[in-house]
Amino acid sequence: MSTDDLTQAVSERYARAAATGEQMCCPTGYDFADLRRFVPDEVLKISYGCGTPAGLNSVQPGETVLDIGSGGGIDCFEASRRVGPTGRVIGLDMTDQMLAIARRNAPLVAANLGYSASNVEFRKGMAETMPVEDGAIDLIISNCVINLAPDKRKVFREMHRVLRPGGRFTISDIVADQTVPQYLIHDREKWGNCLSGALPVCDYVGGLVEAGFLGVHQVKFVPWQVIDGVHFLSVTLTGYKLPQTDGRTDVRFATLRGPFSRAVDELGQVYQRGVPQAVSARTAQLLNAPPFDRLFLLSEAPVPLTQPDPRLIAILPAQAPCVWAGHFALFTGPFLEVCDDDQHRYYRGQPLEICSKTLAVLGHEAYAGRFTVINRAQNPVGGAEASCAPGGSCC
Ligand SMILES: C[S@@+](CC[C@H](N)C(=O)[O-])C[C@H]1O[C@@H](n2cnc3c(N)ncnc32)[C@H](O)[C@@H]1O
Repeated sequence: MSTDDLTQAVSERYARAAATGEQMCCPTGYDFADLRRFVPDEVLKISYGCGTPAGLNSVQPGETVLDIGSGGGIDCFEASRRVGPTGRVIGLDMTDQMLAIARRNAPLVAANLGYSASNVEFRKGMAETMPVEDGAIDLIISNCVINLAPDKRKVFREMHRVLRPGGRFTISDIVADQTVPQYLIHDREKWGNCLSGALPVCDYVGGLVEAGFLGVHQVKFVPWQVIDGVHFLSVTLTGYKLPQTDGRTDVRFATLRGPFSRAVDELGQVYQRGVPQAVSARTAQLLNAPPFDRLFLLSEAPVPLTQPDPRLIAILPAQAPCVWAGHFALFTGPFLEVCDDDQHRYYRGQPLEICSKTLAVLGHEAYAGRFTVINRAQNPVGGAEASCAPGGSCC
């Protein structure tokens, strides 16, 4: 199928959905009772997202927000409430039927919010060639759309172009734990249902970094479907378009607090836990952003951290036998690669098989949000205990 045919098929799919209001797609996590107070049912009925990118405290008052693939407008209207009357929201979609529903509900939502006029504008256009000026946007949101685009890298480049320096994105989308096979990719129905177009996590995040974003990391993940052993997951990711730096900064050193024993950031800087590392102004800027700010001690002079300093975090594995039960850990940022305290090296987006001991380690609060764990065992697993050398390194 050519790119144009695919786009046409997707648009027809969503035009049909807008007309029938059929149920489709994925787990979202909306508080519908709350949304019903100001968003008409006609919009809520055609909510086809896979997350809540406008509902995770990502949107700030007064901001200009762009929603890529806005559909019936559910996230634009949530963003409209959050930016307040001084902010602005642009919804972008390629399907006329979706735009018509969104546009006719915009004045109703504005009235329900007590605004004198709607602060939401819906534009017709493609995610790959957005009708949006350079550097005009503070925050990009998108909900279950980019997987539908045949050329995701083009979308990522456009996202980077329209964001202002210092801007950021929070997008929910469907991704896969591995490369989706060709026979699924060419299944038009599954593509339209937000499955076959899913990129492996490493390619999705890698594409965002290649487009110029930094600090790309997971905010939330929900398992969705497994088809022929391919795990499809809904993830919400955030990342930054950092502004140019003039080189002036008080931060000259960064000390990794943990829980990782070693980490490599997207600028190639290597950190060992507890060891102060001299950093550039650009790196200092990156490490000031969440979630890095919780993982590092930033200082003007070197600050080594040693046990039992409570600022140092190490999660040691239990001295117990391990059981292999089919679990794989997918590290989801904000680093390129990290090591734990049991000699595992995790590369972002690449599943690594882990035993019960490591599963328990990664379940620790200090690792919360850094990993997605899937189980690839298709049948119940016997799970005999394996012996580990005292001191670790069983896996
Ligand atoms: C799964 S729906 C999600 C709609 C909305 N974000 C929501 O959460 O309800 C996908 C939407 O993206 C639009 N879309 C898909 N591919 C697009 C593209 N390449 N450019 C612009 N819009 C696109 C479709 O028309 C459809 O309205």
